[in-house]
Amino acid sequence: MRALVVSFAWAWLLLLQLAGASHVVHDHENLEAEAATAKVPPSIVNPQLRTGYHFHPAKNWINDPNAPMYYKGWYHFFYQYNPKGAVWNNIVWAHSVSRDLIHWVALETALRPSIPSDRYGCWSGSATVLPDGSPVIMYTGINRPNINYQVQNVAYPKNKSDPLLREWAKPSYNPIIVPQGGINATQFRDPTTAWRAADGDGHWRLLIGGVTGATAARGVAYVYRSRDFRRWTWVRRPLHSAATGMWECPDFYPVSTDGRLVGLETSVSSGPRVKHVLKNSLDLRRYDYYTVGTYDRKAERYVPDNPAGDEHRLRYDYGNFYASKTFFDPAKRRRILWGWANESDTTADDVAKGWAGIQAIPRTVWLDPSGKQLLQWPIEEVEALRGKSATLKDRVIRPGQHVEVTGIQAAQADVEVSFEVSSSALAGAEPQDPALAYDAERLCGVKGADVKGGAGPFGLWVLASANLKERTAVFFRVFKAAGSNKPVVLMCNDPTKSSLNPNLYRPTFAGFVDTDISNGKISLRSLIDRSVVESFGAGGKTCILSRVYPSLAIGKNARLYVFNNGNADVRVSRLTAWEMKKPLMNGA
Ligand code: FRU
Repeated sequence: MRALVVSFAWAWLLLLQLAGASHVVHDHENLEAEAATAKVPPSIVNPQLRTGYHFHPAKNWINDPNAPMYYKGWYHFFYQYNPKGAVWNNIVWAHSVSRDLIHWVALETALRPSIPSDRYGCWSGSATVLPDGSPVIMYTGINRPNINYQVQNVAYPKNKSDPLLREWAKPSYNPIIVPQGGINATQFRDPTTAWRAADGDGHWRLLIGGVTGATAARGVAYVYRSRDFRRWTWVRRPLHSAATGMWECPDFYPVSTDGRLVGLETSVSSGPRVKHVLKNSLDLRRYDYYTVGTYDRKAERYVPDNPAGDEHRLRYDYGNFYASKTFFDPAKRRRILWGWANESDTTADDVAKGWAGIQAIPRTVWLDPSGKQLLQWPIEEVEALRGKSATLKDRVIRPGQHVEVTGIQAAQADVEVSFEVSSSALAGAEPQDPALAYDAERLCGVKGADVKGGAGPFGLWVLASANLKERTAVFFRVFKAAGSNKPVVLMCNDPTKSSLNPNLYRPTFAGFVDTDISNGKISLRSLIDRSVVESFGAGGKTCILSRVYPSLAIGKNARLYVFNNGNADVRVSRLTAWEMKKPLMNGA
C-alpha cells in the first residue's frame, strides 16, 4: 500500500514537472535578451552549455548541499539558493526529491527567513534521523542586519506522514545554540548531522565550524551535546583544530575498514573496524580537505592517523568542489557525498546566463583498503542514463598520436578507459622535482598536457573542437621519485585550451594518485556534461571536477579523443564511452 501511495505521488510530480516545462523556454528568451545588453561573448549563454544530468535548479544561484537524507522511500536534497537571481544573496533552503538520486523534482522552498533567529538568512546545515525514523534539521540562522551574527536553529517536519516532507516548522524556542564564551559569532556555522553512540552516555553530539585566535588563524570544530535536541551544552574542548583559517561545513562520520559498500550510520562511533573521517571546507582556499583518524569518545577528541595530515591534507576533489556533505543511505547501506561546483566564468556571465552553480554527481565514499584515504565513485544509478556507446579495444597510441572516439555525441558522455604503459616506458619516466613533491597543482601547471614527457602525459581530450583549437585535457603523467626511483603518478586537468572565450578562470587542477602502477595499469572515468568534466582516477583514488565553457565544442560539435604526448607507446586496453540521457531535472 505504501508503495502505491509513493508511486501515485511520483506520477503527480511528473505531471507537475511537465506543466513547468513551458517556463524554461521563456527563460531562455529572457537570457538571450539580457546577454545582448550585458556584452558577454554570446557562446556563454548558449543553452547547450547548461548541464543536463548534474543536479541544478531551473534557474538562479545555488551553493552548498544541505541536509541530504532518505525518508520513506525518497531521497531529499536541500540546497542554498537565491530565488531572485544568479548571484549569492537572499539565501533560502530550496528542496528537491528523487526516488533514485538521478531524476529530481523541485518542491516548495523548505526554509526561508521567517523568525527572529533566521531573519537575515537560512544558511547551511544538516539533517539527523532520530531513532523513531523522523528527521530534524539543524541550520545556521543570521539574526542581525549587516553583520553576519550566527546562531543555530532546528526545524521539524509539520507532517511526518508526508514522504515528501513538504512543510517544516520552526519551534518558538529557537535559536537553540548561540555563540558564547568568546566564540567568534560571525564565524560560527554549518552544524553537522548529530550522532549518539548506542553504548554511550545518551547524549547527541554535533559539530559547528568556526575559527579561533586573535588573527583568526585556527580552524576549529566545536562540539555541542544534548539529550533532547533542544538544550545544548558546549563541550569546551573542540573535537579538533588546525592552523588553516576558518572551517566551514564540517562533516564527521565513521567509515568501515571492511571495504566496499559498507557505509556506516553516523551514530556508529566505536569498534575495532571503525575509523572516522573529519572534513572541513577551508574558507581561505575554497577546497574541501579531510583526514582519516580515530575518534576517542571519552576524551571527545579526534586524532588524524597521519600526524602531517593537517598540513599535506587529502582533498575529496582536486578541482572545483566545495562545501560538501555526506549522508548515510539506509536503503543501500552506503555513504553518499554531495558537493557544490561553482562556475568559473564571470559574475556578469552568470547574470547573463541566469544560472550559477551545480552539484557534482553524488558519489559513494568508502575507505581504501590501505586505510590511508577514501575512495569515491559515482553512484551506480547514474549508469541508468547511459545510452548509445562507442568502444576502442586494444588500441596502441603512439607517441604524439591522438585517436578520436567516434559514433556518439560527446558533449554529454560517461567515459571509462583502462590504460597500460610498458615497463620500459615506466623506466623512461621523468625524474620528479623534489621541490614540487607536494605541489601537484604547480607541477601540472609547469608540465601541462602539451609538454612532452617520458611515461605520459596520456589521457583524454574532452569537449574538443574538430580543429582541436578547443580541448580540455584529463591525463596522467608518471614521474620517478627522487631517491627511490619509485613511480609517482600525477593526475591533471588542463583547461588552458578549453575555450576561445577569453573571460574565464581556467586553473590547472591536479592531484597525486597513490596507486601502484608497477604493472603499468591505470584507469580513468570522466563524466562529461556540457560545461563540467568530472573525473575519477585509478578507481576513485583521485578526483577532479572542472568547469569549462567551450565556444566551438558545443552540442554536436563536441568531440572526444585519446592522446599520448609521452615518448613511449600507451595501450588503451579498453575504452567505452556512453552518451548520457537527460533525467528530469527540477523543471530545467
Ligand atoms: C559555504 C558557506 C557556508 C554558509 C553558506 C551560506 O559555501 O559560506 O559556510 O553557511 O555558504 O550560503
